[in-house]
Amino acid sequence: MTTMNFKLLDPFPKFQFLDGPTGIQPLRQLNKQLGGVELFVKRDDIMGMGLAGNKLRKLEYIIGDALKNNADTLITSGGLQSNHARLTAVAASYSKMDYELVLTEAVANDNPEYKKNGNILLEQILGAKIHYLTKGKDPATFIDDRINSLRKSGRAPYLIPLGGSSPTGCLGYVNCFQEITGQADELNIHFDYIIVPNGTGGTHAGLFAGLKLSGMKDIRIKSYTVLNHADAAHNQTREKAGAILNLLKSGLTAERDELVIDGNFLGAGYGIPTNEMKEAVKLLARTEGIFLDPVYTGKAFAGMLADISAGKFRKGDKLLFILTGGLPGLFAYQSAFGPELSPEK
Ligand SMILES: Cc1ncc(COP(=O)(O)O)c(C=O)c1O
Repeated sequence: MTTMNFKLLDPFPKFQFLDGPTGIQPLRQLNKQLGGVELFVKRDDIMGMGLAGNKLRKLEYIIGDALKNNADTLITSGGLQSNHARLTAVAASYSKMDYELVLTEAVANDNPEYKKNGNILLEQILGAKIHYLTKGKDPATFIDDRINSLRKSGRAPYLIPLGGSSPTGCLGYVNCFQEITGQADELNIHFDYIIVPNGTGGTHAGLFAGLKLSGMKDIRIKSYTVLNHADAAHNQTREKAGAILNLLKSGLTAERDELVIDGNFLGAGYGIPTNEMKEAVKLLARTEGIFLDPVYTGKAFAGMLADISAGKFRKGDKLLFILTGGLPGLFAYQSAFGPELSPEK
């Protein structure tokens, strides 16, 4: 691997939130059941702060950039159970920046737990300033107005796009690709595939840009969409990958057929549970003691399991699934998993 190209990351300031590489572990019990492929997970769901997940890697570069630009107030948006919003609150508090969260009803879910528990609970503990927009209120207009009024009051706002997936934020996953190759060398494992959920596409795009920088030809990256349909996700991910490679002044491009994105496991839409997701969440909990989240990793893991069963990977392939976090979301989906307890008579 050419590590030289990763020097292109050096000019971008980073505010450190991670204490070092996240772990990689084999799924020993599940692998016995699957037979054929070998599954590993990268624990981006375990980081030192904020019950973390993939967004903390993006926020290292985003807050580095915000501080470089003398911003003092972060503003971002997401659905009510946005993990990105929770981690923005954590990262902003830690780096002593002001912040505002604009949360929308992106998912039609009237369960009280959805509006109170999970990420919302954590944001309330953090003392987040939350603007709750009900359906029909346009978040883009609301955010524009907020930015204007912050400026008028002498503040310097910094807008973080949905999912933290600005080209700058996605550098977190370029960096993660480099981290994975270093760990693979140490563990003496060659991963044939890296597998991730695809929401705004930034995680996939960042990893892809890392792969291009490395010059490696024998690792493939595959994502499963959980937000957009396959075509839209493909366009969005490719566009982001190209923007990252440009930002890095790499001279490299992202071609359409270089990105592998599967749209078959989205179900009825973003945040709407599927049976395959529920089965995947239960399977991983019961075999490995690892909890997936219902919105992102649950659906992507379900897709990967289905593709393994359908023989889409070769015997002996080593697959690294990135556990991108989102666990607090599970507590907003109690009704998808269990009936109320009934007392013993
Ligand atoms: C837990 C979790 N996994 C995966 C994703 C998807 O990442 P991306 O938006 O970079 O595609 C997100 C956010 O959207 C997330 O919160």
